[in-house]
Amino acid sequence: MATLAELIHDRTALAEPAVEHLQRLVGTWGVLSDLSFSDLLLFAPAAGQPGQFVVVGQVRPTTSQTLYIEDLLGREVTGPERPMLSRALSLGTVVEGELAVAARGEPARVVCIPVRFAGEVVAVLTREAPLRVGRRPGELERVYAGVFDRIARMVTAGAFPFLLDEPLSSESPRVGDGVMVLDASGRVEYASPNAVNAMHRLGVFRGVLGASLEELGLEQSPVPRAYKELLPASEELELGEVAVFIRCIPLLDQGKLTGALVLVRDVTDIRRRDRLLMSKDVAIREVHHRVKNNLQTISSLLRLQARRLPAGEARHALDEAERRVRSIAMVHEILSRDTAQEVDFDDILPSLVRMAEDLSSTAHPVRVTWSGGAGHMGAQVATPLAVALNELMQNAVEHAFVSYRAEPEARVHVTFSRRGDELVVEVRDNGAGLPPGFSVDSTTSLGLSIVRGLVNSQLGGKIEMRSDGGTVARLVVPINHPVGDDLARI
Ligand SMILES: Nc1ncnc2c1ncn2[C@@H]1O[C@H](COP(=O)(O)OP(=O)(O)O)[C@@H](O)[C@H]1O
Ligand SMILES: [Mg+2]
Repeated sequence: MATLAELIHDRTALAEPAVEHLQRLVGTWGVLSDLSFSDLLLFAPAAGQPGQFVVVGQVRPTTSQTLYIEDLLGREVTGPERPMLSRALSLGTVVEGELAVAARGEPARVVCIPVRFAGEVVAVLTREAPLRVGRRPGELERVYAGVFDRIARMVTAGAFPFLLDEPLSSESPRVGDGVMVLDASGRVEYASPNAVNAMHRLGVFRGVLGASLEELGLEQSPVPRAYKELLPASEELELGEVAVFIRCIPLLDQGKLTGALVLVRDVTDIRRRDRLLMSKDVAIREVHHRVKNNLQTISSLLRLQARRLPAGEARHALDEAERRVRSIAMVHEILSRDTAQEVDFDDILPSLVRMAEDLSSTAHPVRVTWSGGAGHMGAQVATPLAVALNELMQNAVEHAFVSYRAEPEARVHVTFSRRGDELVVEVRDNGAGLPPGFSVDSTTSLGLSIVRGLVNSQLGGKIEMRSDGGTVARLVVPINHPVGDDLARI
């Protein structure tokens, strides 16, 4: 699907500044469609085909039914099919008429509005609605039609869209949310029922007609700024629990301000939902923080206990258990830092590496280094991976260099590489290599049984270990694996 800019570039001969003008128009014309209860189409002259036009924009009203269910973007139209287009383009004035809309076969009222940019008519905006409009026009419809005509004249004069406008968001108010029309002095000439409701919610109960928003107590209203700069301005006003979004679009005639269209939206519910979501994020972070604290407490308790034992098997086992718990705590430490449920494993790695290096004695230090990046992954992958990596690095530091002193520098190197959805981790040392007859698949010792269990069942990956100028342990782990079994299954 081509973007609007691509469509205009490919199919018309318009220069870049004109393209940007049309993009700005299409970015803000929802209000025009809603005010006129009509479909809007934007036609630009087709490149190299005189008299032919391309549809480069289409918007349907949210206030009324549409004439066009189909997508007309990119559709080519010849002069005879829509003679009004060429007339509007060459005359530079609004041309009105009727047209049988093919898909429905019913006549539609069409108003062709030339779009001027830098003195030239660069495109034609059409407003199209069924001849029989479903609703009998009342005051609201008459006022909206009046404002539409004023903005349409600005389009023809090149004064709309504004060169500078705030980006609209899904929260920006639309016509259906509430409309006020102000006169040249900023006083309310008209307020739609929804706008009056929004005012009530802000605590304004006196009649709004004839008053300025400031007189109504809305000191922070964007109206003075819009009147001063002759540009649209928006502001969100808060009064206690209530939040109202106000957008003010100045209406100009030959460069002079004649009034303004003010769109009003009660965003109280949206803000309440934002606050709830925010507090949920904060709560999740807090939970990770507490889990981390609890794990750190457990690891301290194990360390205290280990220190009371004489050096030997029991003490060694408690020390190992302490480090396993600490490696899980590291993941929760990262999770508690922000609201994302993903961790950047490269943030955990330095602490893991330091923990392994600390195991070596100062007399025979082992250097642990790494290269490549593990990148982002869910906590359900990061936690088992941290524990497994901890075991493998510890084994290298503990076992590779025991009786092996020929190598002047004892080194462990970890490499990470990502292959699509798979993470490959290699832990390589330049030590003595694995004992004869060793097999990672059959060993019953605790450390590697834990690694095997985590990698095979919990991560859905594979592990290999072989001797190659030392020992190489290689893990292949799918990063998007669904959450697997827990540690209790090992
Ligand atoms: N990098 C390595 N270099 C040499 N031997 C290793 C290496 N990694 C593991 N081993 C051997 O595998 C055995 C099993 O390791 P493991 O299951 O972690 O138990 P533990 O570390 O408690 O001995 C070790 O005792 C050691 O003999
Ligand atoms: Mg071990």
